[in-house]
Amino acid sequence: MSRTQFTRSVSRHLPFGEKRDTRFYGKHIISVKEFDRHDLETIFDVAREMRSMVERVGSFDLLKGKVLANLFYEPSTRTSSSFAAAVQRLGGSVLQINNVTFSSVSKGEVLEDTIRTMESYADAIVLRHPDKGSAATAAAVARKPVINAGDGSGEHPTQALLDLFTIHEELGRIDGLTVTMLGDLKYGRTVHSLSRMLGLYDVKLHFVAPDVLGLPPKLMNQLLDTGMQPCKYVDLQQVLPQTDVLYVTRVQRERFDDPAEYEQVKGSYVITPETMRMAKERMIVIHPMPRVDEISMDMDDDPRAAYFRQMEYGMYVRMALLALVLGKA
Ligand code: NCD
Repeated sequence: MSRTQFTRSVSRHLPFGEKRDTRFYGKHIISVKEFDRHDLETIFDVAREMRSMVERVGSFDLLKGKVLANLFYEPSTRTSSSFAAAVQRLGGSVLQINNVTFSSVSKGEVLEDTIRTMESYADAIVLRHPDKGSAATAAAVARKPVINAGDGSGEHPTQALLDLFTIHEELGRIDGLTVTMLGDLKYGRTVHSLSRMLGLYDVKLHFVAPDVLGLPPKLMNQLLDTGMQPCKYVDLQQVLPQTDVLYVTRVQRERFDDPAEYEQVKGSYVITPETMRMAKERMIVIHPMPRVDEISMDMDDDPRAAYFRQMEYGMYVRMALLALVLGKA
């Protein structure tokens, strides 16, 4: 049988196609700069449907037969397992590569070749890598969608999506809120992505950090260019009473060149029930996690502590994203 005949006979019997004309079909997700408000509304609508589907039936064969490659060059618990759970709840499967020292990466394989390899087996690739810009490098050679799950101190767009979804679902809106970001604003990629994405909304943004962990000046200028007027503080008390969303972050020890510098700033802020006495009654505390010591565990029973609920929202957002890039939503 010639190749043409073979192709023709297969396509004649395929029962379903993919929605190739949709906005996200086959797209890479590298930076939050790729999204506008309308895109976010679409993703959140699909995520809500995913949530009610999971609550009603648990799983649904929307991505049956699809394979996701989860390629993690840096540690992860939530991002990696929520992507794995997301594809599995939609009937697909996951190729998990966590410890790249056991893969050909340890033999000196370049990222581009690893990407070309994984896309030979999978329909989409989730990539976490220690180098800023690595997701864009991967996307430049990939034929299948690459989803940036954190590129060094660069970006973490899917975390920003789930952070925003959490804010919306918990507080019922995004416009008009006061968001305070606390901790490591210099190296925290989740801060970089979320603050950019908040530029699409009418929010008041406060940055609270020790001087050495302030937002990178380039990013601050980009936010100012979008018309935002973020204010910088060192003392949380100055802004906590007005805050609707307190976004707490871990000091990113692995990004410091000088361990002594980390020692000086670790533990700069710790949120305790005592701290929260100053906060509004209706507000939320969120955190991309993992926490080290910046939120004390006796905060966990406070109804305003939304960081565990945030993880669950993350799975619905990742289910939505996978369905969209694979042309099934
Ligand atoms: C964050 C990350 O890896 O950037 N975690 C996550 O993805 N949920 C935050 C962190 O490591 O501090």
